[in-house]
Amino acid sequence: MSVVFENHGGIAVARIERPPVNAIDASVRAGLLWAVARTLESADTQALLIVCNGRTFMSGADLAELGGVIPPPGYVETLAALENCPKPVIVSLHGTALGGGLEVAMACHYRCATPTARMGMPEITLGIIPGAGGTQRLPRLVGSLNALGMLLSGAPVDAKRARDIGLVDEIVGDDPLAGGLEFAQRLVREGARPRPTRASKERLQSLGEPAIAGVLDQHARALKGRTTQHQVIRALEAASQLDFDEGLRLEARLSADSLQTAESLALRHVFFAERECGRVPGLAASGTAPAVRKAAVIGAGTMGTGIAMALADAGIAVSLLERDGQALERGLAVIRSNYDGSVQRGRLDAAAAEARVRSIQGTLDFDAARDADLAIEAVYEDFDLKRTILARLDTVLPPHALLASNTSSLSLGELAQATRNPERVVGLHFFSPANVMRLLEIVRGARTSNATLLAALSLAKTLRKTGVVVGDGFGFVGNRMMLDGYFREAELMMLQGVSPARIDGVMEAFGFAMGPNKVNDMAGIDVGTRVRTELLRRESRPPPYHVVSDALTAQGHLGQKSGRGIYRYEGGDRTPRDNPELTALIAALAERHGVAHRAVSDAEIERRCVLSLVNLGANILAEGLAYRASDIDVIWTSGYGFPRWRGGPMCYADSLGLDAVVEQIHALADAGGGSYWSASALLLELAREGRSFADLDRTRAG
Ligand code: NAI
Repeated sequence: MSVVFENHGGIAVARIERPPVNAIDASVRAGLLWAVARTLESADTQALLIVCNGRTFMSGADLAELGGVIPPPGYVETLAALENCPKPVIVSLHGTALGGGLEVAMACHYRCATPTARMGMPEITLGIIPGAGGTQRLPRLVGSLNALGMLLSGAPVDAKRARDIGLVDEIVGDDPLAGGLEFAQRLVREGARPRPTRASKERLQSLGEPAIAGVLDQHARALKGRTTQHQVIRALEAASQLDFDEGLRLEARLSADSLQTAESLALRHVFFAERECGRVPGLAASGTAPAVRKAAVIGAGTMGTGIAMALADAGIAVSLLERDGQALERGLAVIRSNYDGSVQRGRLDAAAAEARVRSIQGTLDFDAARDADLAIEAVYEDFDLKRTILARLDTVLPPHALLASNTSSLSLGELAQATRNPERVVGLHFFSPANVMRLLEIVRGARTSNATLLAALSLAKTLRKTGVVVGDGFGFVGNRMMLDGYFREAELMMLQGVSPARIDGVMEAFGFAMGPNKVNDMAGIDVGTRVRTELLRRESRPPPYHVVSDALTAQGHLGQKSGRGIYRYEGGDRTPRDNPELTALIAALAERHGVAHRAVSDAEIERRCVLSLVNLGANILAEGLAYRASDIDVIWTSGYGFPRWRGGPMCYADSLGLDAVVEQIHALADAGGGSYWSASALLLELAREGRSFADLDRTRAG
């Protein structure tokens, strides 16, 4: 049992103890029932106080239980016992009370919280409808409209807001037990009676179409393509229309159904994949990597400045190294103006921004790296330049320091050969803007040591990024799939007469934040050309492989930064406009390469873009460049805008069925796709055996 029962002078105290985050499972539920029973047995006990040991209140339901039948005692039964208890039940919250944790708290009669406590219902982020009365009790406490906002955003509120809207009654001191006891004793002194949430109706209201539309609109970006929100609204409307028990029954049905939806399965897949990707097979995640206190970043360009800010945001002191004073000043000015912008938008207070600006020291002297725990080079993508810089850093850095390159196309192994300690060299492939994007590809070179990899993974955590270890192949994982598959098909379709805007529209309707052509323009078309030049040095691809992008690069039409690319941009704004010059260029290239116009349906656009990712993803797995299919899903959902609610390309392929995927790939090859569509051997094998990528991950995990 995970509950300790004590008596504190007439107040029974049930302390939940289920480290690390007091997730609710059968043992916690049984413990709560037992605590209610003991409270009732004892004549001199006047009230029950529930608190949690450790760093947080119950952080939510134990997700491991969600897969199958929830073992008894159930949530409804447990929460009813709390709510119907004839003696007052008080709960004291600290840390984060989320989901099932907050549902327990809402079934109690009185709630207090420490000043730093946060409370929320994040189920929507997993595509789930709460199943322990959350949709029925929350509106009774905070009002229907506030409840809708909380349930649709999934974001927690702080203690002050919780008190303002009626979710908690009182903010106590920092110690949840002492504060809770004081609150409980006062309630008893004042003769407080049980106050079941179910009986409270005053704040319930029918939401009405305009209010619903307003809240949906507020969360439109996060909810694009999603369906869970409609069930949340149904459950909330039920709270105001049905009696409590009927409302609970409807919620239970909606909750059970939500666990089966493709959306929820996909979202939970990504949730677990993000936890799994920090583990490297065969490497114990010892967590003993030395802390990084000081870092050197070389190159104050687009990436260097972003990386410096990401480090400063995590409290790491940075020396930003440049070769010339002007470039350095420019870089430091960008950093200053970015932090100023954060202050103006209210994201950061002025003092914190100032401290971060000051923690980044500009310098032209490599000696500044002498006491660094980590150096990251982000100079031009030039093989010889990068080798020179790495070799120099290797002689300056202390022996324990990590030496990283932010290369996006060069071979890390070959770069590392320029140093005397290639085992400490690792790729840290940040994405632009580096202080914002969560994904960090950690590139394992031929000689990168295990200790270096662990240190890189621990750095990712410090930076609050999702670190995924990838192999040292062309474009690593994300860019290879994007360039060699996704963008390749987008280009071929343009040659076949499909407009870039239509391709983008179809992929945005699929759920991508931005279609491939807009992304290409935003990243800079030359960036892809440069990466592919590296590929073509090692392998060949038959024409018309990326002839459009390469021609645009040659003409200096590089996308947003030059005002023209696939689209046209006016007066420095970022709105993509039709580009008649591109139409002419495409017509000429199509003729030169003998590509005929043909009708391409929306379904075909989607299929070609998505299945090219799946096929390449399978090759990448076969080559060992990614450890798991789920790692690829993490890369695509956190770094490339693949809709999270579709689970990433590999999970999406599983949902289609791999035999259907193979059939479609064969059809694309027969329809003129030729060698671009030769099906991955691994994909063929899995389909033949009736297995999925998830099965493959499970087998590999052994
Ligand atoms: P950039 O051209 O904006 O910045 C490069 C900076 O390096 C310039 O400020 C330059 O003055 C400085 N530099 C050149 N030689 C130097 C030297 N000897 N010592 C010190 N500083 C020197 O380039 P960007 O876009 O920041 O790219 C940097 C690296 O990051 C490249 O390897 C690129 O492939 C990679 N990368 C770029 C991404 C992007 O979206 N731009 C994304 C991921 C990686």
